Amino acid sequence: MDLYEYQARDLFEAHGVPVLAGIVAQTPEEAKAAAEQIGGVVVVKAQVKVGGRGKAGGVKLAKTADEAYEHAKAILGMDIKGHTVHRVMIAQGAEIAEEYYFSILLDRAERNYLAMCSKEGGVEIEQLAVDSPEKLVRYNFDPNTGIDADVAAEIATQAGFSSEEVPALVDAFQKLWGAFSAEDATLVEVNPLVKTGDGAIIALDGKVTIDENAAFRQPAHADLVDESAEDPLEAKAKENDLNYVKLDGSVGIIGNGAGLVMSTLDVVAYAGEAHNGVTPANFLDIGGGASAEVMANGLDVILGDEQVKSVFVNVFGGITSCDAVATGIVKALEILGDTATKPLVVRLDGNNVEEGRRILKEANHPLVITADTMDGGADKAAELANK
Ligand SMILES: Nc1ncnc2c1ncn2[C@@H]1O[C@H](COP(=O)(O)OP(=O)(O)OP(=O)(O)O)[C@@H](O)[C@H]1O
Ligand SMILES: [Mg+2]
Repeated sequence: MDLYEYQARDLFEAHGVPVLAGIVAQTPEEAKAAAEQIGGVVVVKAQVKVGGRGKAGGVKLAKTADEAYEHAKAILGMDIKGHTVHRVMIAQGAEIAEEYYFSILLDRAERNYLAMCSKEGGVEIEQLAVDSPEKLVRYNFDPNTGIDADVAAEIATQAGFSSEEVPALVDAFQKLWGAFSAEDATLVEVNPLVKTGDGAIIALDGKVTIDENAAFRQPAHADLVDESAEDPLEAKAKENDLNYVKLDGSVGIIGNGAGLVMSTLDVVAYAGEAHNGVTPANFLDIGGGASAEVMANGLDVILGDEQVKSVFVNVFGGITSCDAVATGIVKALEILGDTATKPLVVRLDGNNVEEGRRILKEANHPLVITADTMDGGADKAAELANK
């Protein structure tokens, strides 16, 4: 889960990372009040989960509260790379002497943690990494040690900071590592990390990604979820503990096992080429225990997607045998009753497949069409979606 800048700011503050005052506003009036409360020069910043806000006109300096009002009015509702701005953060203005770059992330290729640092921050770091890679220090460190004072000093020194500059940076890096590890983050990026006129180091921007797999030990993170930005179908699926991802196509997909569902998406997309280019509407893995209830919940979510024209149920019976899955489908259709209106192409294979097919045949549900192979099922579902 990616956080908004204002959430990252608050999280930094909680972990002692030096930040400036920042208040979220949803209206120009709130922005003005926030600017008055903070006092002096402020910066009005669009809160969207996408980079390059400054360039898009979403970061504006305001010398007075009235100016903050005007900027907020212009920025709220603005579209930045497909993200609508619903909130701005009114940030205390910093007196910037220099802009640096610092980040901590998972280095999957190295199976390790990585800190990156540059004296040339503020700019697009991706570009710097390409044009002058020598200016971006990449430092792998042991997660068990983390960024202690020695590691932090090494990073700062390698990045070319002088011995007078190092101590303040060591403190900031250690605090940022504290935030990263305590919050189970997979990314903490500060661009720019600034030095002010009086030599203080401050995090002026923050991008944080939280590892959702750690939700069980991070109850406070539930409050960081932005429900307004969440897809309603994905939210409903989450409530039911379903592994569902909404896609743009019209063939609903249900399968068991992430690998099988992924290949089902491929096969349906391929089959769709012969049927006017129809594509999958979602990813849904109902996992091992395909009970009638899970099947019903899954179908309910998929059928709630207006774009869906047909559904392809592709199940390989393993621990949960095909007869149990078939019974699940029949019961699910009973539970759903009139809300089930789209044709359902069902392909079963694996453990107890004969019995599973028999159960479906006997139920003889008008919406259910059986298929013997994955390719055949995908083709049928694509054809029906194109009708
Ligand atoms: N509180 C502040 N005081 C003074 N200047 C600021 C402040 N916040 C941001 N700036 C200036 O605006 C620039 C852009 O701000 P910021 O890094 O937050 O947005 P961005 O980089 O454009 O957006 P993104 O990080 O999403 O790409 C900074 O490099 C800095 O020069
Ligand atoms: Mg930035």
